[in-house]
Amino acid sequence: MIRVLFVCLGNICRSPMAEAIFRDLVKKEGLSDKIDVDSAGIGPWHSGKAPHEGTREMLNRKQIPYDGMKARQIHTNDWHTNDYMVAMDDENITSLQEMTDKEEGAVLTKLMDYVDETEVTNVPDPYFTGDFDYTYELVSEGCWRLLQYIRETNNI
Ligand code: 4NP
Repeated sequence: MIRVLFVCLGNICRSPMAEAIFRDLVKKEGLSDKIDVDSAGIGPWHSGKAPHEGTREMLNRKQIPYDGMKARQIHTNDWHTNDYMVAMDDENITSLQEMTDKEEGAVLTKLMDYVDETEVTNVPDPYFTGDFDYTYELVSEGCWRLLQYIRETNNI
C-alpha cells in the first residue's frame, strides 16, 4: 500500500480538501486497493472537528465525499507510517522539518511542486483569505499531478 498524508496548519481547510479530492481521484482510477490517503494538521486546535464549512461547501458543490473526516494533529509516527507527506506551504515544511524522528520516513514535498507550469508555490490558506474557490482550483490541479507522479514512480 502506498500511503499519502496531506498536511496543513489546522487540518480543517486545505489538507482535508486535498484528502477528499485525492481519495476521489484514486477511487475513480480504480486504485483504492493500492493508495491510502489521510491528512493531518501541524496544530492541535481543531482536533476532532469536521472540515471547515467553506471546504465542505466546496466539496458538496463538486460532489466529492468527505464523510467521517475529522481533524487530527500530526504525530512523529506519521513519518514512518506514510510514504509521501505533502504539505501546503513553506511554513508547513518548516514546522515538519523541525519534528524529530524523521530520518528514514516519508518523502516530504509541497503539493504545488507537482505542478510545473505555475509560479504559485504555496496553496493559500482560505481560513485567512476566505477564497475557497481559488484554493480548490490549486489543490485539485496539484492532486491530479501528484497522482500521475505516484502512478509513474510506482508503475501502477
Ligand atoms: P488550514 O487552515 O491549515 O488550511 O486548515 C487553518 C485553519 C485554522 C487555523 C489556521 C489555519 N487556525 O489557526 O485555527
